[in-house]
Amino acid sequence: MESKKKERVLVFDTTLRDGEQSPGASMNPEEKLRVARQLERLGVDIIEAGFPIASEGDFLSVRQIAREVRGPQIAGLARANLNDIDRAWEAIKEAAHPRIHTFISTSDIHLKYQLKKTRDQVLKDACAAVAHACAYTSNVEFSPMDATRSDWDYLCDVIEAVIAVGATTVNIPDTVGYIMPEEFGKLIAYLFKKVKNIKKAIVSVHCHNDLGLAVANSLAAVKNGARQVECTINGIGERAGNAAMEEVVMSLATRKDFFGFSTGIKTEYIYQSSRLLTHITGIPVQPNKAIVGANAFAHESGIHQDGLIKEKITYEIMTPQSVGISGTHLVLGKHSGRHAISERLKRMGFKLSADEMKRVFVRFKEIADVKKEIFDEDLEAIMYEEVYRVEEKYKLVYLNVVCGNVAIPTATMEMEVDGKIVRDAGFGVGPVDATVAAIRKITKTDYHLQKYAVNAITGGTDAQGEVTVQLQFNSRSVVGRGADPDVIVASAKAYINALNRLEFLKRDVKKVKVVE
Ligand code: KIV
Ligand code: ZN
Repeated sequence: MESKKKERVLVFDTTLRDGEQSPGASMNPEEKLRVARQLERLGVDIIEAGFPIASEGDFLSVRQIAREVRGPQIAGLARANLNDIDRAWEAIKEAAHPRIHTFISTSDIHLKYQLKKTRDQVLKDACAAVAHACAYTSNVEFSPMDATRSDWDYLCDVIEAVIAVGATTVNIPDTVGYIMPEEFGKLIAYLFKKVKNIKKAIVSVHCHNDLGLAVANSLAAVKNGARQVECTINGIGERAGNAAMEEVVMSLATRKDFFGFSTGIKTEYIYQSSRLLTHITGIPVQPNKAIVGANAFAHESGIHQDGLIKEKITYEIMTPQSVGISGTHLVLGKHSGRHAISERLKRMGFKLSADEMKRVFVRFKEIADVKKEIFDEDLEAIMYEEVYRVEEKYKLVYLNVVCGNVAIPTATMEMEVDGKIVRDAGFGVGPVDATVAAIRKITKTDYHLQKYAVNAITGGTDAQGEVTVQLQFNSRSVVGRGADPDVIVASAKAYINALNRLEFLKRDVKKVKVVE
């Protein structure tokens, strides 16, 4: 049993905490819960659900996840002070397996310019924080922030001291994505050599991707003794992001011969998790992204295709199926019945209630009436519109647009605002501009539009247009999405979706940054 445990690398997912710090990635509580449930299905060991002191919204959503997601450990982040730790514990205490994760910087750069504290003071604060957290739970993680730019011997002292007062996981963050894989491997090996009580804790790593090395650094650390990797779905996170979970996990799985470790991740849920996050945050995955990018399994060159036809192993190191990308592309159409659609959705990983299925089926029929072939991507878009909708203050009822090369683009619109019908019209330089003008008049809003993008969900001129809109609210932003065979309607839906999501953000304005 003991040796089996040693072969396992724990996956600590921080999509909901560090990932949510990506510009534009803010999620509302309902969406965070959905992501947490997906992470549970995926098999992560620890979910870092948020930073409870950061805002009331963060606190409530960490508490909700702690109450409702019972499989994995649920971690709450806290700076190394008593208030933060009390608040983190308050949020996670009802979890089946709570964990407090507390941190303080240890690099001289941070000590001098940010904390304005001496090494001794930081060591004392770290120990006091860990001891305080241990009074609540025996599951305490400590992170010396900016560890990779800290003095190695001082780092050893801090780690030894926090383990002595009860930390059960010590996490080594490469906060600014600075270290090189070989160097990081050496640092981890150094800790194992110098820190006398290191075996009493699990060594974890947390790598940022500023030089594109987050995954390589995490793997180098595993090779040298780390047994927990902190990562995010699609590698989202501050600046260039965090280590991408799918890349770490598939590296360990595909090169088990080299690493000799496994994880608890059910890899067949990887693609679905990636898609879910993209839908929620509106942050697209680059086509050439490893594992989950659109081209990750597409072989273009003739020589490669020839090899693959003869024997897959020639150019394929893992199968698309192993990460949940189905090889089949059966097309549905207007004659497809409810059973066929329900079966397809099930295969795509969606479980629907009878009422949800009813809504999806009605929308499916509407789309199938104007679009000959319905692909998985269309079904996915229907799911996100019909089932995973946020609470709606604003609803689109009716939209009529006049445009063309001899008309002044005009949008006449009817919306429901807090249950009341409101009508108005807008003009613009084009039909989308006119539609947005009408929405702004009806909703009496004028948030700055940071981004507007249209994408065809599938091929063909009858494809559904998928629109992403990003609106700014103070220093934060929200993303809205909408899909429809008519791109103007899709634009209206996306804009209204962003306004509805912004309502959540407005209720949760106080937000403390992790570095404060
Ligand atoms: O990057 C970092 O140092 C962090 C810590 C809070 C672990 O996110
Ligand atoms: Zn981080």
